[in-house]
Amino acid sequence: SLLLLLLLLAFNSMMTGSMELTSHTSSFPDNFLFGTASSSYQYEGAILSDGKGLSNWDIFAHKTGKIFDGSNGDIAVDHYHLYPEDIELMEDLGLNSFRFSISWARILPKGRFGNVNMAGVYHYSKLIDALLYKGIQPFVTLTHYDVPQELEERYGAWLSPNIRKDFEYYADICFKYFGNRVKYWVTLNEPNVMAIRGYRSGIYPPSRCSGSYGNCSKGNSEKEPLIAAHNMILCHSAAVKIYRNKYQKEQGGSIGIVMNAVWYEPFSNSTEDKLASERAQSFYLNWFLNPIIYGKYPEEMHNLIGSRLPVFSKNDVKNLGNGLDFIGINHYTSFYSKDCIYSKCEPGEPGASRSEGYALRTAIRDGEPIGESTAVDWLYVHPQGMEKIVTYIMNRYNNTPMFITENGIGVLDDLNSSTTYFINDVKRVEYMSSYLESLAMAIRKGADVRGYFAWSLLDNFEWISGYTIRFGLHHVDFPTLKRTPRISAAWYKEFIKNQTLAN
Ligand code: NOJ
Repeated sequence: SLLLLLLLLAFNSMMTGSMELTSHTSSFPDNFLFGTASSSYQYEGAILSDGKGLSNWDIFAHKTGKIFDGSNGDIAVDHYHLYPEDIELMEDLGLNSFRFSISWARILPKGRFGNVNMAGVYHYSKLIDALLYKGIQPFVTLTHYDVPQELEERYGAWLSPNIRKDFEYYADICFKYFGNRVKYWVTLNEPNVMAIRGYRSGIYPPSRCSGSYGNCSKGNSEKEPLIAAHNMILCHSAAVKIYRNKYQKEQGGSIGIVMNAVWYEPFSNSTEDKLASERAQSFYLNWFLNPIIYGKYPEEMHNLIGSRLPVFSKNDVKNLGNGLDFIGINHYTSFYSKDCIYSKCEPGEPGASRSEGYALRTAIRDGEPIGESTAVDWLYVHPQGMEKIVTYIMNRYNNTPMFITENGIGVLDDLNSSTTYFINDVKRVEYMSSYLESLAMAIRKGADVRGYFAWSLLDNFEWISGYTIRFGLHHVDFPTLKRTPRISAAWYKEFIKNQTLAN
Protein backbone atom coordinates (compact mmCIF):
# COMPACT_ATOMS: atom_id res chain seq x y z
CA SER A 1 0.00 0.00 0.00
CA LEU A 2 0.97 3.64 -0.43
CA LEU A 3 1.15 4.09 3.28
CA LEU A 4 3.65 1.33 3.69
CA LEU A 5 5.70 2.64 0.81
CA LEU A 6 5.90 6.10 2.33
CA LEU A 7 6.93 4.68 5.65
CA LEU A 8 9.57 2.57 4.03
CA LEU A 9 10.95 5.57 2.18
CA ALA A 10 11.04 7.61 5.34
CA PHE A 11 12.71 4.69 6.97
CA ASN A 12 15.35 4.39 4.30
CA SER A 13 17.60 7.06 5.71
CA MET A 14 17.60 5.33 9.03
CA MET A 15 18.45 2.06 7.36
CA THR A 16 21.34 3.53 5.45
CA GLY A 17 22.87 4.22 8.81
CA SER A 18 22.41 0.70 10.02
CA MET A 19 23.58 -0.74 6.71
CA GLU A 20 26.89 1.02 7.09
CA LEU A 21 26.96 -0.47 10.49
CA THR A 22 26.36 -3.97 9.16
CA SER A 23 28.93 -3.68 6.40
CA HIS A 24 31.70 -3.22 8.91
CA THR A 25 30.25 -5.58 11.47
CA SER A 26 29.52 -8.29 8.95
CA SER A 27 30.88 -11.20 10.93
CA PHE A 28 28.14 -13.73 10.51
CA PRO A 29 29.70 -16.93 9.25
CA ASP A 30 28.69 -18.81 6.10
CA ASN A 31 25.51 -20.85 6.42
CA PHE A 32 24.45 -18.79 9.43
CA LEU A 33 20.76 -19.37 10.10
CA PHE A 34 18.59 -16.27 10.10
CA GLY A 35 15.07 -17.06 11.18
CA THR A 36 12.16 -16.30 13.42
CA ALA A 37 10.90 -18.39 16.34
CA SER A 38 7.43 -19.49 17.43
CA SER A 39 5.73 -22.12 19.58
CA SER A 40 2.71 -24.37 19.22
CA TYR A 41 0.48 -22.95 21.94
CA GLN A 42 1.29 -19.33 21.09
CA TYR A 43 0.70 -19.74 17.34
CA GLU A 44 -1.37 -22.71 16.27
CA GLY A 45 -4.85 -22.34 17.69
CA ALA A 46 -6.98 -25.22 16.36
CA ILE A 47 -7.35 -26.38 19.94
CA LEU A 48 -9.52 -29.36 19.07
CA SER A 49 -8.81 -29.89 15.38
CA ASP A 50 -8.02 -33.28 13.89
CA GLY A 51 -7.95 -35.26 17.10
CA LYS A 52 -5.70 -33.01 19.19
CA GLY A 53 -5.72 -33.73 22.93
CA LEU A 54 -5.82 -31.03 25.58
CA SER A 55 -2.60 -29.63 27.00
CA ASN A 56 -1.88 -28.16 30.41
CA TRP A 57 -1.97 -24.69 28.82
CA ASP A 58 -5.38 -25.33 27.23
CA ILE A 59 -6.74 -26.06 30.68
CA PHE A 60 -4.84 -23.34 32.53
CA ALA A 61 -5.70 -20.47 30.17
CA HIS A 62 -9.39 -21.28 30.50
CA LYS A 63 -9.36 -20.75 34.26
CA THR A 64 -10.54 -17.33 35.37
CA GLY A 65 -7.93 -14.85 36.44
CA LYS A 66 -4.90 -16.62 35.03
CA ILE A 67 -4.40 -14.62 31.83
CA PHE A 68 -4.18 -10.83 32.05
CA ASP A 69 -6.75 -10.04 29.35
CA GLY A 70 -8.87 -13.14 29.94
CA SER A 71 -7.81 -14.57 26.59
CA ASN A 72 -6.44 -17.99 25.64
CA GLY A 73 -4.70 -19.79 22.78
CA ASP A 74 -7.80 -21.56 21.38
CA ILE A 75 -7.35 -19.70 18.10
CA ALA A 76 -4.11 -17.78 18.69
CA VAL A 77 -2.93 -16.72 15.22
CA ASP A 78 -4.41 -19.85 13.62
CA HIS A 79 -1.03 -20.80 12.25
CA TYR A 80 -2.35 -24.39 12.12
CA HIS A 81 -4.47 -23.38 9.14
CA LEU A 82 -2.65 -20.27 7.92
CA TYR A 83 0.88 -21.69 7.83
CA PRO A 84 1.09 -21.52 4.00
CA GLU A 85 0.50 -17.77 4.19
CA ASP A 86 3.04 -17.47 7.02
CA ILE A 87 5.66 -19.34 5.02
CA GLU A 88 5.17 -16.77 2.26
CA LEU A 89 5.96 -14.04 4.78
CA MET A 90 9.12 -15.92 5.76
CA GLU A 91 10.09 -16.33 2.15
CA ASP A 92 9.60 -12.64 1.57
CA LEU A 93 11.92 -11.83 4.47
CA GLY A 94 14.54 -14.15 3.04
CA LEU A 95 14.67 -16.40 6.12
CA ASN A 96 16.57 -19.64 5.80
CA SER A 97 15.19 -21.18 8.98
CA PHE A 98 12.00 -21.28 11.04
CA ARG A 99 11.87 -22.35 14.67
CA PHE A 100 8.59 -23.90 15.82
CA SER A 101 7.46 -26.44 18.37
CA ILE A 102 5.37 -29.57 18.06
CA SER A 103 2.33 -29.79 20.26
CA TRP A 104 2.86 -33.00 22.23
CA ALA A 105 -0.89 -33.40 22.73
CA ARG A 106 -1.48 -33.14 18.97
CA ILE A 107 0.76 -36.16 18.39
CA LEU A 108 -0.13 -38.05 21.58
CA PRO A 109 -3.46 -36.80 22.96
CA LYS A 110 -3.12 -39.16 25.95
CA GLY A 111 0.64 -39.46 26.13
CA ARG A 112 1.84 -43.04 25.91
CA PHE A 113 -1.50 -44.17 27.33
CA GLY A 114 -3.30 -43.75 24.00
CA ASN A 115 -2.83 -43.80 20.26
CA VAL A 116 -0.60 -41.79 18.01
CA ASN A 117 -2.79 -39.18 16.34
CA MET A 118 -1.78 -39.63 12.72
CA ALA A 119 -3.65 -36.48 11.67
CA GLY A 120 -1.28 -34.54 13.91
CA VAL A 121 1.74 -36.28 12.42
CA TYR A 122 0.42 -35.46 8.97
CA HIS A 123 0.03 -31.78 9.85
CA TYR A 124 3.66 -31.33 10.91
CA SER A 125 4.82 -33.38 7.99
CA LYS A 126 3.10 -30.99 5.61
CA LEU A 127 4.48 -27.97 7.47
CA ILE A 128 8.03 -29.34 7.27
CA ASP A 129 7.70 -30.11 3.57
CA ALA A 130 6.29 -26.68 2.83
CA LEU A 131 9.20 -25.02 4.64
CA LEU A 132 11.83 -27.13 2.91
CA TYR A 133 10.24 -26.45 -0.46
CA LYS A 134 11.08 -22.78 0.13
CA GLY A 135 14.59 -23.52 1.35
CA ILE A 136 13.67 -22.84 4.98
CA GLN A 137 15.26 -25.21 7.52
CA PRO A 138 12.86 -26.42 10.22
CA PHE A 139 14.34 -25.93 13.72
CA VAL A 140 12.04 -28.03 15.86
CA THR A 141 11.34 -27.98 19.60
CA LEU A 142 9.66 -31.00 21.18
CA THR A 143 8.25 -29.19 24.20
CA HIS A 144 7.72 -25.46 24.47
CA TYR A 145 5.85 -25.33 27.82
CA ASP A 146 2.77 -27.31 26.70
CA VAL A 147 2.41 -30.94 27.81
CA PRO A 148 -0.60 -33.27 27.50
CA GLN A 149 -2.99 -32.63 30.38
CA GLU A 150 -3.35 -36.40 30.69
CA LEU A 151 0.18 -36.61 32.09
CA GLU A 152 -0.54 -33.88 34.59
CA GLU A 153 -3.60 -35.73 35.80
CA ARG A 154 -2.11 -39.21 35.84
CA TYR A 155 1.07 -38.52 37.73
CA GLY A 156 1.81 -34.78 38.02
CA ALA A 157 3.85 -34.50 34.81
CA TRP A 158 7.32 -33.04 35.55
CA LEU A 159 7.08 -33.83 39.25
CA SER A 160 7.19 -37.54 38.56
CA PRO A 161 10.04 -39.67 37.19
CA ASN A 162 7.32 -41.32 35.07
CA ILE A 163 7.53 -38.45 32.64
CA ARG A 164 10.79 -39.76 31.31
CA LYS A 165 9.10 -42.76 29.70
CA ASP A 166 6.51 -40.49 28.13
CA PHE A 167 9.08 -38.03 26.83
CA GLU A 168 11.21 -40.83 25.38
CA TYR A 169 8.21 -42.33 23.65
CA TYR A 170 7.16 -38.96 22.22
CA ALA A 171 10.66 -37.98 21.11
CA ASP A 172 11.15 -41.32 19.38
CA ILE A 173 7.95 -40.83 17.38
CA CYS A 174 9.03 -37.36 16.28
CA PHE A 175 12.51 -38.53 15.23
CA LYS A 176 10.94 -41.45 13.38
CA TYR A 177 8.41 -39.45 11.39
CA PHE A 178 10.21 -36.15 10.88
CA GLY A 179 13.90 -36.82 11.41
CA ASN A 180 14.62 -37.55 7.76
CA ARG A 181 13.82 -33.86 7.11
CA VAL A 182 14.52 -32.08 10.41
CA LYS A 183 18.20 -31.39 11.05
CA TYR A 184 17.87 -29.32 14.23
CA TRP A 185 16.13 -30.72 17.29
CA VAL A 186 15.50 -29.03 20.61
CA THR A 187 14.31 -31.21 23.47
CA LEU A 188 12.96 -28.53 25.82
CA ASN A 189 12.37 -24.81 25.59
CA GLU A 190 13.41 -22.86 28.68
CA PRO A 191 13.15 -25.63 31.26
CA ASN A 192 14.48 -23.10 33.81
CA VAL A 193 11.43 -20.91 33.22
CA MET A 194 9.06 -23.91 33.28
CA ALA A 195 10.47 -25.06 36.60
CA ILE A 196 10.42 -21.63 38.24
CA ARG A 197 7.09 -20.37 36.97
CA GLY A 198 5.27 -23.69 37.23
CA TYR A 199 6.55 -24.73 40.67
CA ARG A 200 8.08 -21.76 42.46
CA SER A 201 6.02 -18.66 41.68
CA GLY A 202 3.15 -20.76 40.35
CA ILE A 203 2.19 -18.26 37.65
CA TYR A 204 2.30 -20.95 34.92
CA PRO A 205 0.62 -24.35 35.02
CA PRO A 206 0.43 -26.43 37.11
CA SER A 207 0.32 -23.34 39.39
CA ARG A 208 2.16 -24.85 42.29
CA CYS A 209 3.86 -22.76 44.97
CA SER A 210 4.01 -22.20 48.69
CA GLY A 211 5.02 -19.70 51.31
CA SER A 212 5.49 -16.16 50.23
CA TYR A 213 5.88 -16.97 46.56
CA GLY A 214 2.40 -16.73 45.18
CA ASN A 215 -1.19 -17.60 45.56
CA CYS A 216 -1.34 -21.37 45.25
CA SER A 217 -3.29 -23.98 47.14
CA LYS A 218 -0.73 -26.73 46.63
CA GLY A 219 2.98 -27.06 46.14
CA ASN A 220 6.36 -26.56 47.76
CA SER A 221 8.38 -23.71 46.31
CA GLU A 222 11.56 -24.85 48.03
CA LYS A 223 11.56 -28.38 46.67
CA GLU A 224 9.35 -28.83 43.65
CA PRO A 225 11.21 -26.59 41.17
CA LEU A 226 14.30 -28.69 41.87
CA ILE A 227 12.41 -31.95 41.38
CA ALA A 228 10.74 -30.77 38.18
CA ALA A 229 14.07 -29.54 36.83
CA HIS A 230 15.71 -32.83 37.73
CA ASN A 231 13.11 -34.75 35.74
CA MET A 232 13.45 -32.32 32.83
CA ILE A 233 17.20 -32.92 32.74
CA LEU A 234 16.61 -36.68 32.73
CA CYS A 235 14.02 -36.32 29.94
CA HIS A 236 16.47 -34.32 27.88
CA SER A 237 19.23 -36.84 28.29
CA ALA A 238 16.89 -39.77 27.53
CA ALA A 239 15.79 -38.16 24.27
CA VAL A 240 19.36 -37.37 23.27
CA LYS A 241 20.34 -40.96 23.95
CA ILE A 242 17.58 -42.27 21.70
CA TYR A 243 18.45 -39.82 18.96
CA ARG A 244 22.13 -40.69 19.09
CA ASN A 245 21.60 -44.45 19.28
CA LYS A 246 18.82 -44.84 16.75
CA TYR A 247 18.71 -41.90 14.39
CA GLN A 248 21.55 -39.44 14.35
CA LYS A 249 23.97 -41.35 12.18
CA GLU A 250 21.46 -42.05 9.50
CA GLN A 251 19.62 -38.72 9.66
CA GLY A 252 22.66 -36.52 10.22
CA GLY A 253 21.01 -33.85 12.38
CA SER A 254 21.94 -32.30 15.71
CA ILE A 255 20.14 -32.01 19.05
CA GLY A 256 20.28 -29.48 21.85
CA ILE A 257 18.32 -27.66 24.52
CA VAL A 258 17.11 -24.05 24.68
CA MET A 259 17.76 -22.08 27.87
CA ASN A 260 16.48 -18.73 28.97
CA ALA A 261 19.70 -16.80 29.51
CA VAL A 262 19.85 -13.50 31.34
CA TRP A 263 23.07 -11.54 31.65
CA TYR A 264 23.66 -10.70 35.32
CA GLU A 265 25.83 -7.61 35.49
CA PRO A 266 27.60 -7.14 38.83
CA PHE A 267 26.11 -4.06 40.50
CA SER A 268 29.55 -2.91 41.58
CA ASN A 269 33.16 -3.93 41.03
CA SER A 270 33.30 -5.67 44.38
CA THR A 271 34.28 -9.31 44.50
CA GLU A 272 31.03 -10.02 46.35
CA ASP A 273 28.88 -8.61 43.57
CA LYS A 274 30.87 -10.49 40.95
CA LEU A 275 30.38 -13.69 42.89
CA ALA A 276 26.69 -12.90 43.18
CA SER A 277 26.47 -12.66 39.41
CA GLU A 278 28.20 -16.01 39.02
CA ARG A 279 25.88 -17.49 41.64
CA ALA A 280 22.87 -16.19 39.77
CA GLN A 281 24.04 -18.01 36.63
CA SER A 282 24.55 -21.19 38.64
CA PHE A 283 21.00 -21.14 39.88
CA TYR A 284 19.47 -20.26 36.53
CA LEU A 285 21.50 -21.39 33.54
CA ASN A 286 24.14 -23.78 34.84
CA TRP A 287 21.44 -25.51 36.90
CA PHE A 288 20.65 -27.36 33.65
CA LEU A 289 23.71 -26.97 31.46
CA ASN A 290 26.16 -28.22 34.07
CA PRO A 291 24.49 -31.62 34.57
CA ILE A 292 23.84 -32.00 30.85
CA ILE A 293 27.37 -31.11 29.79
CA TYR A 294 29.47 -32.02 32.85
CA GLY A 295 27.28 -34.60 34.58
CA LYS A 296 26.62 -32.77 37.85
CA TYR A 297 24.90 -29.78 39.39
CA PRO A 298 27.02 -26.63 39.80
CA GLU A 299 29.21 -26.55 42.90
CA GLU A 300 27.40 -23.50 44.21
CA MET A 301 24.08 -25.28 44.22
CA HIS A 302 25.64 -28.09 46.25
CA ASN A 303 27.18 -25.59 48.62
CA LEU A 304 24.08 -23.52 49.21
CA ILE A 305 21.16 -25.93 48.95
CA GLY A 306 22.90 -29.31 48.85
CA SER A 307 20.43 -31.03 51.12
CA ARG A 308 17.48 -30.10 48.92
CA LEU A 309 19.13 -31.01 45.63
CA PRO A 310 17.89 -34.25 44.03
CA VAL A 311 20.60 -36.84 43.41
CA PHE A 312 21.42 -38.47 40.08
CA SER A 313 21.57 -42.25 40.29
CA LYS A 314 24.66 -44.11 39.08
CA ASN A 315 22.80 -45.04 35.96
CA ASP A 316 21.69 -41.46 35.32
CA VAL A 317 25.24 -40.24 35.66
CA LYS A 318 26.31 -42.62 32.89
CA ASN A 319 23.92 -40.91 30.52
CA LEU A 320 24.76 -37.38 31.60
CA GLY A 321 27.74 -35.43 30.35
CA ASN A 322 28.37 -34.42 26.77
CA GLY A 323 24.60 -34.50 26.41
CA LEU A 324 24.01 -32.05 23.59
CA ASP A 325 25.31 -30.89 20.22
CA PHE A 326 24.41 -27.23 20.65
CA ILE A 327 23.17 -24.75 23.23
CA GLY A 328 20.11 -22.70 22.31
CA ILE A 329 20.11 -19.28 23.96
CA ASN A 330 16.98 -17.20 24.46
CA HIS A 331 18.39 -13.84 25.39
CA TYR A 332 16.36 -10.69 25.88
CA THR A 333 17.50 -8.84 28.97
CA SER A 334 20.11 -8.17 31.64
CA PHE A 335 19.69 -7.56 35.38
CA TYR A 336 22.07 -6.27 37.99
CA SER A 337 23.27 -8.72 40.56
CA LYS A 338 24.18 -7.64 44.03
CA ASP A 339 25.43 -9.73 46.85
CA CYS A 340 22.98 -10.18 49.68
CA ILE A 341 24.50 -13.19 51.30
CA TYR A 342 27.87 -11.98 52.45
CA SER A 343 26.93 -8.33 52.72
CA LYS A 344 23.64 -7.16 54.08
CA CYS A 345 20.89 -5.85 51.81
CA GLU A 346 18.14 -3.70 53.19
CA PRO A 347 14.64 -4.28 51.88
CA GLY A 348 14.03 -1.93 48.98
CA GLU A 349 17.68 -1.72 48.11
CA PRO A 350 18.56 -2.98 44.67
CA GLY A 351 18.90 -6.70 45.02
CA ALA A 352 16.95 -7.10 48.18
CA SER A 353 13.69 -8.21 46.66
CA ARG A 354 12.56 -10.42 43.81
CA SER A 355 15.00 -12.74 42.18
CA GLU A 356 14.77 -15.41 39.53
CA GLY A 357 15.92 -18.96 40.06
CA TYR A 358 17.40 -19.99 43.32
CA ALA A 359 19.79 -17.08 43.24
CA LEU A 360 17.75 -15.95 46.15
CA ARG A 361 18.94 -12.61 47.46
CA THR A 362 21.73 -12.62 44.93
CA ALA A 363 20.33 -11.48 41.64
CA ILE A 364 17.83 -8.82 40.98
CA ARG A 365 15.69 -7.15 38.51
CA ASP A 366 14.13 -4.60 40.80
CA GLY A 367 15.92 -1.53 41.92
CA GLU A 368 18.26 0.17 39.52
CA PRO A 369 17.29 -0.66 35.91
CA ILE A 370 20.23 -1.67 33.78
CA GLY A 371 18.82 -0.12 30.62
CA GLU A 372 15.75 1.44 29.08
CA SER A 373 12.60 -0.26 30.29
CA THR A 374 9.99 -1.55 27.83
CA ALA A 375 6.35 -2.61 27.72
CA VAL A 376 7.51 -5.96 29.08
CA ASP A 377 8.08 -5.82 32.83
CA TRP A 378 11.18 -8.04 32.80
CA LEU A 379 12.78 -6.60 29.69
CA TYR A 380 15.46 -3.89 29.86
CA VAL A 381 17.37 -2.88 26.76
CA HIS A 382 21.04 -3.66 27.35
CA PRO A 383 22.63 -4.78 24.06
CA GLN A 384 26.05 -5.42 25.65
CA GLY A 385 24.38 -8.28 27.53
CA MET A 386 24.26 -10.27 24.30
CA GLU A 387 28.01 -10.29 23.82
CA LYS A 388 28.56 -10.94 27.51
CA ILE A 389 26.20 -13.89 27.87
CA VAL A 390 27.45 -15.54 24.67
CA THR A 391 31.06 -15.07 25.81
CA TYR A 392 30.20 -16.41 29.26
CA ILE A 393 28.64 -19.57 27.79
CA MET A 394 31.48 -19.96 25.31
CA ASN A 395 34.08 -19.87 28.07
CA ARG A 396 32.22 -22.05 30.48
CA TYR A 397 31.21 -24.72 27.99
CA ASN A 398 34.24 -24.96 25.80
CA ASN A 399 32.73 -23.11 22.86
CA THR A 400 29.97 -25.63 22.23
CA PRO A 401 28.07 -24.51 19.09
CA MET A 402 25.41 -21.97 20.02
CA PHE A 403 22.26 -20.60 18.44
CA ILE A 404 20.43 -17.49 19.54
CA THR A 405 17.08 -19.26 19.50
CA GLU A 406 15.13 -16.16 20.57
CA ASN A 407 15.70 -12.42 20.84
CA GLY A 408 13.18 -9.65 20.54
CA ILE A 409 11.17 -6.94 22.19
CA GLY A 410 7.51 -6.63 23.04
CA VAL A 411 5.71 -3.37 22.41
CA LEU A 412 2.25 -2.06 23.12
CA ASP A 413 0.22 -0.68 20.29
CA ASP A 414 0.38 3.08 20.25
CA LEU A 415 -3.28 3.78 19.71
CA ASN A 416 -2.77 7.53 19.61
CA SER A 417 -0.63 7.92 16.54
CA SER A 418 -3.21 7.68 13.75
CA THR A 419 -3.52 4.71 11.43
CA THR A 420 0.16 3.98 11.22
CA TYR A 421 0.36 2.98 14.84
CA PHE A 422 0.54 -0.67 14.26
CA ILE A 423 3.47 -0.83 11.89
CA ASN A 424 5.72 1.88 13.25
CA ASP A 425 8.01 -0.14 15.51
CA VAL A 426 11.27 1.76 15.30
CA LYS A 427 11.96 0.68 18.90
CA ARG A 428 12.16 -2.91 17.71
CA VAL A 429 14.56 -2.03 14.90
CA GLU A 430 16.84 -0.24 17.33
CA TYR A 431 16.68 -3.15 19.73
CA MET A 432 17.40 -5.82 17.14
CA SER A 433 20.16 -3.97 15.35
CA SER A 434 21.98 -3.19 18.57
CA TYR A 435 21.67 -6.76 19.88
CA LEU A 436 22.79 -8.18 16.54
CA GLU A 437 25.77 -5.87 16.52
CA SER A 438 26.69 -7.06 20.00
CA LEU A 439 26.29 -10.67 18.85
CA ALA A 440 28.54 -10.01 15.85
CA MET A 441 31.17 -8.74 18.26
CA ALA A 442 31.08 -11.99 20.24
CA ILE A 443 31.39 -13.97 17.02
CA ARG A 444 34.34 -11.87 15.87
CA LYS A 445 36.05 -12.66 19.14
CA GLY A 446 35.63 -16.37 18.50
CA ALA A 447 32.20 -17.49 19.73
CA ASP A 448 30.83 -20.37 17.67
CA VAL A 449 27.32 -19.01 17.10
CA ARG A 450 25.51 -20.53 14.13
CA GLY A 451 22.17 -18.80 13.95
CA TYR A 452 19.82 -16.10 15.18
CA PHE A 453 16.04 -16.29 15.51
CA ALA A 454 13.94 -13.21 16.09
CA TRP A 455 11.02 -13.59 18.45
CA SER A 456 8.77 -13.39 16.55
CA LEU A 457 7.43 -13.49 12.99
CA LEU A 458 3.95 -12.52 14.19
CA ASP A 459 2.23 -11.03 17.21
CA ASN A 460 0.98 -13.97 19.22
CA PHE A 461 -0.32 -15.25 22.56
CA GLU A 462 2.23 -13.97 25.11
CA TRP A 463 1.38 -16.45 27.89
CA ILE A 464 -0.03 -14.71 30.99
CA SER A 465 0.01 -11.35 29.18
CA GLY A 466 -2.41 -12.76 26.62
CA TYR A 467 -2.52 -10.62 23.49
CA THR A 468 -1.62 -7.35 25.22
CA ILE A 469 2.06 -7.47 24.37
CA ARG A 470 3.13 -7.65 20.76
CA PHE A 471 6.43 -9.24 19.77
CA GLY A 472 5.80 -9.53 16.01
CA LEU A 473 7.74 -8.33 13.01
CA HIS A 474 4.22 -8.49 11.58
CA HIS A 475 1.18 -7.00 13.21
CA VAL A 476 -1.75 -9.37 13.63
CA ASP A 477 -5.26 -7.99 13.76
CA PHE A 478 -6.67 -10.64 16.07
CA PRO A 479 -10.36 -10.38 15.09
CA THR A 480 -9.55 -10.94 11.40
CA LEU A 481 -6.12 -12.59 11.79
CA LYS A 482 -4.79 -10.31 9.08
CA ARG A 483 -0.99 -10.05 9.08
CA THR A 484 0.68 -6.74 8.17
CA PRO A 485 4.45 -6.24 8.00
CA ARG A 486 5.88 -3.71 10.41
CA ILE A 487 8.91 -1.56 9.72
CA SER A 488 10.99 -4.12 11.59
CA ALA A 489 10.06 -6.76 8.99
CA ALA A 490 11.41 -4.56 6.20
CA TRP A 491 14.48 -3.84 8.29
CA TYR A 492 15.17 -7.53 9.07
CA LYS A 493 14.80 -8.38 5.40
CA GLU A 494 17.41 -5.77 4.44
CA PHE A 495 19.68 -6.87 7.25
CA ILE A 496 19.59 -10.49 6.16
CA LYS A 497 20.14 -9.57 2.53
CA ASN A 498 23.23 -7.55 3.41
CA GLN A 499 24.63 -10.31 5.57
CA THR A 500 24.09 -12.90 2.89
CA LEU A 501 25.62 -10.73 0.20
CA ALA A 502 28.56 -9.94 2.46
CA ASN A 503 29.31 -13.64 2.62
C1 NOJ B 1 10.64 -16.90 25.71
C2 NOJ B 1 9.62 -17.96 25.44
O1 NOJ B 1 10.25 -19.10 24.95
C3 NOJ B 1 8.54 -17.48 24.48
O2 NOJ B 1 7.53 -18.43 24.48
C4 NOJ B 1 8.05 -16.12 24.89
O3 NOJ B 1 6.98 -15.67 24.11
C5 NOJ B 1 9.20 -15.15 24.80
N1 NOJ B 1 10.21 -15.54 25.75
C6 NOJ B 1 8.83 -13.71 25.12
O4 NOJ B 1 8.42 -13.61 26.44
